[in-house]
Amino acid sequence: MADEAADAKREGQIWDGVHGWVCLRLCTCYLHTNHPPSFATKFVDTRLAQPQPGHDIIQSFINHGLSRDQLIQEITLQILAGADTTATVIRMALLHLIANPPSLRNFLAEIDNALHVAKGNLSPATKNGGIITTAEALTLPYLQAVVREGLRIYPLTGLVGKQVPVGGDTVHGYKLPEGTVLGQNLWGLCRDKRTWGADADIFRPERWLPGKDVESQARVKEMTGVQELVFGYGKYQCLGKNLAVMELGKVFFEVSLLLFRKEDELPRPEGSTSTAAIR
Ligand code: HEM
Repeated sequence: MADEAADAKREGQIWDGVHGWVCLRLCTCYLHTNHPPSFATKFVDTRLAQPQPGHDIIQSFINHGLSRDQLIQEITLQILAGADTTATVIRMALLHLIANPPSLRNFLAEIDNALHVAKGNLSPATKNGGIITTAEALTLPYLQAVVREGLRIYPLTGLVGKQVPVGGDTVHGYKLPEGTVLGQNLWGLCRDKRTWGADADIFRPERWLPGKDVESQARVKEMTGVQELVFGYGKYQCLGKNLAVMELGKVFFEVSLLLFRKEDELPRPEGSTSTAAIR
């Protein structure tokens, strides 16, 4: 009897884990098999027929040996799961940055410094208009703080529900009947004054910049643990988390160039008349 209950519980958990994935796969199949050929199919076929390699994530997938079918599924997944999510964070973080002149000044000052200091962390290629690498973006603490604060102030996914498996469960001493949908309130967590302090409702990237003291470093560690819940947790965690963080780092670097500089201040690839940001 106990074994049956354990099996049923496990089955419920497995089903819960795969349901999001299955939904995505169903959408993929629908887009893939629907006629006329889907956007993803057309896109992949055009790319595979192109003689010159691209310089983007699709090329990376091709280089890593993904088949045509896998590429079509990846494209669909990127659009369904990775487009609006990341785009919303970009819009909301940018809105808060523009609305906070001191933060904007600090953000631009860090990038000015990185671009113009001879022995900075940016390679000559990036300084001359190349796309910033992920490793380089990670060396810009204020830029990373803007990304984290943007994800915190507008945790777009809201309630991330999970269904209690067959047989029910007990969470923090609360007995939950099977089938109950339990959501974690990310909006509440990301604005909780017990974690973020009295200014929880204010966009303040500085909160992510610890001093040298152990206490403030421990505090940032704790905040990071809460903030990263916007991507879910454990085996359910967002599969695109690293990609999203990479995209956000690159986008905010570009944003700092495109939106806030005069044309003649922009870095240009050597010998080119166009600016770095217009690619
Ligand atoms: C800032 C951007 C993003 C946020 C805040 C976000 C957030 C989330 C959240 C909360 C979940 C559900 C986790 C759970 O069920 O507990 C999720 C799932 C998922 N995300 Fe993201 N996501 C983002 C970007 C992306 C990107 C760029 C991709 C891929 C291109 C992606 C692919 C996925 C996939 C495939 C799942 C399903 C994972 C599974 O069920 O195993 N996400 N995401």
